[in-house]
Amino acid sequence: MSKTLFITGANRGIGLALTRAYLSDGWQVMATCRDPESANELTALIEEFDKLEIFALDVTDYDAVADLSNELGDADFDLFINNAGYYGPKGYGFGETDVDEWRKVFEINTIAPLKLAEAFYPQLKSSQGLIANMSSKMGSMEDNGSGGSYIYRSSKAALNSVTKSLSLDGLVDGVNAVALHPGWVQTDMGGPNALITPLESATGLKYVLDNFSEEQNGGFFDPKGNSIPW
Ligand SMILES: NC(=O)c1ccc[n+]([C@@H]2O[C@H](COP(=O)([O-])OP(=O)(O)OC[C@H]3O[C@@H](n4cnc5c(N)ncnc54)[C@H](OP(=O)(O)O)[C@@H]3O)[C@@H](O)[C@H]2O)c1
Repeated sequence: MSKTLFITGANRGIGLALTRAYLSDGWQVMATCRDPESANELTALIEEFDKLEIFALDVTDYDAVADLSNELGDADFDLFINNAGYYGPKGYGFGETDVDEWRKVFEINTIAPLKLAEAFYPQLKSSQGLIANMSSKMGSMEDNGSGGSYIYRSSKAALNSVTKSLSLDGLVDGVNAVALHPGWVQTDMGGPNALITPLESATGLKYVLDNFSEEQNGGFFDPKGNSIPW
């Protein structure tokens, strides 16, 4: 029987590349995005892969999250990728922090991934699945050599903290959790000057996840499998 991936933010960028990578490897993929009707690249994959199912989901709409979890009640998730993310404002400095944007970034990058893990825990527990939270090196304290980016950095640092607790709380059920850094990737978020393509990032991350072992539970990894300092 094929394995099942559940992923958020699958309509573009790294989420779309991961969706394609897992489908190409024969996985069943439950791909979610805010607006399937405008997700042309994602919906086009249905022509190629019969194991793709697409669901509408805004990750911050927790009633919709609960409804989808009920709808997928009997499913087993081998892998759950909290990929959807939002950078928030760029180019602002100390003294210019937009509090509403900070709240929005936290809602998407930090609060929603935990609420999704809670809502879909039954599907993870039944298959002793792995939760992969798409973090960023920008959330690393040790890697922060340039300051700034208060909003995005703090949201991913907090996501790392969420990931660590999930990795310990899930142990009793055999559910593991890791944080991932996808590299600096050529997407709408990463911009055109980024160092790697979504395909390169997804290929590396999939290799890391395919070779995940329990000693890596609660770790933070890049697409080459390198451990990233907190
Ligand atoms: N690109 C990089 O260099 C880089 C580096 C480090 C970490 N990351 C992380 O990698 C992940 C993917 O980034 P990306 O570069 O692929 O970004 P992207 O191209 O900007 O795509 C962001 C994705 O998140 C979705 N999203 C945003 N808010 C959402 C919400 N409320 N509900 C559901 N989906 C929502 C977007 O959906 P819509 O199309 O509906 O907006 C889109 O699918 C993010 O978590 C990001 O922080 C990226």
